[in-house]
Amino acid sequence: MRKLSTVNDLVLKLRDTRDLSDAELRAMLETDAFDAQLIAAADNVRRASYGTDVYVRGLIEFTNYCRNNCYYCGIRAGNAQAARYRLTKAQILDCCREGYRLGFRTFVLQGGEDMTYTDADICDIVAAIREAHADCAITLSIGERSYESYLAYYQAGANRFLLRHETASDAHYAMLHPPELSLAHRKKCLYDLKSIGYQIGAGFMVGSPYQTTAHIIEDLRFLQDLQPDMIGIGPYIPHRQTPFGDMPGGSLELTVRLIAVLRLMFPYALLPATTALGTIHPLGREMGLKAGANVIMPNLSPVGVRKKYELYENKICTGEEAAECRHCLDRRVEAAGYRIVIDRGDVKK
Ligand code: 5AD
Ligand code: FES
Repeated sequence: MRKLSTVNDLVLKLRDTRDLSDAELRAMLETDAFDAQLIAAADNVRRASYGTDVYVRGLIEFTNYCRNNCYYCGIRAGNAQAARYRLTKAQILDCCREGYRLGFRTFVLQGGEDMTYTDADICDIVAAIREAHADCAITLSIGERSYESYLAYYQAGANRFLLRHETASDAHYAMLHPPELSLAHRKKCLYDLKSIGYQIGAGFMVGSPYQTTAHIIEDLRFLQDLQPDMIGIGPYIPHRQTPFGDMPGGSLELTVRLIAVLRLMFPYALLPATTALGTIHPLGREMGLKAGANVIMPNLSPVGVRKKYELYENKICTGEEAAECRHCLDRRVEAAGYRIVIDRGDVKK
């Protein structure tokens, strides 16, 4: 049993210096001895930075076609059993209109790497949303494209880009992805996006196959270098129609612990309590909020396609209309002690 004073010292050191040595991080990540103090400190820091505000992002999953074959992902190109769909520009705009009515001021267009949407198509969709909702932030989450493409979307009116790095270890990256994908290119995309002027989000799955504590520490070091505005983490959840279908999923405890560590390392970061976290435990997102998370990303996609955007199994909120989900969330967030605000939710620095 670790002495209480040591536990306190390390949590306060992390809070005050926003950093720990690798050995200290390992100690904190590998046992539950720090959790109570860590989570309490993270909630205090979150309240100092953002009060009780929770930002909502309306997620529009506009295509589940993907050219890639990531070994963990249910919509990988090689999954012949996935029922594929694409939303039209008109359908996407309908989702935004309904979302705006429900109080969303950020829209996240997320999809597989579906090259049938050309740069001109993406720019056209972005410009139409920008035109209809001048006061909203437009976030893209459409994977790896060229610098020129990213620049064109930015000039069309996109403000933010989410691209999880997935793992900051080259060796681990190669265990999760086919050889044509590389961490080096993933990182290049993130630094390109940042240099163009996007607010960027990175992140990784917790408990992804073959992940070790050393990998997680590498993830934290990479994030310290990148300094993203948003960091999305959620548990790995197996999907049967993938090569990793029989691998164990990531744990609730470690995910929540890492959210708290991230809050102390990055006092102003936007940290989502992810849908994956809500999928592995009925109160997972609430636990994430209480450990320092300050963003929730409910689904605005049409109910008819939601079950088809199945990155992992048993995903929550796939049967609810956007309005139902939004009101359910209001109640849940309030019950946890926080409050959803109608705001673009830009990062504070
Ligand atoms: N379990 C949990 N998260 C997953 N993602 C992809 N597949 C899974 C899975 N099986 C995450 C990846 C991706 C994000 C959109 O969803 O980290 O970047
Ligand atoms: Fe989506 Fe409750 S949060 S239905």
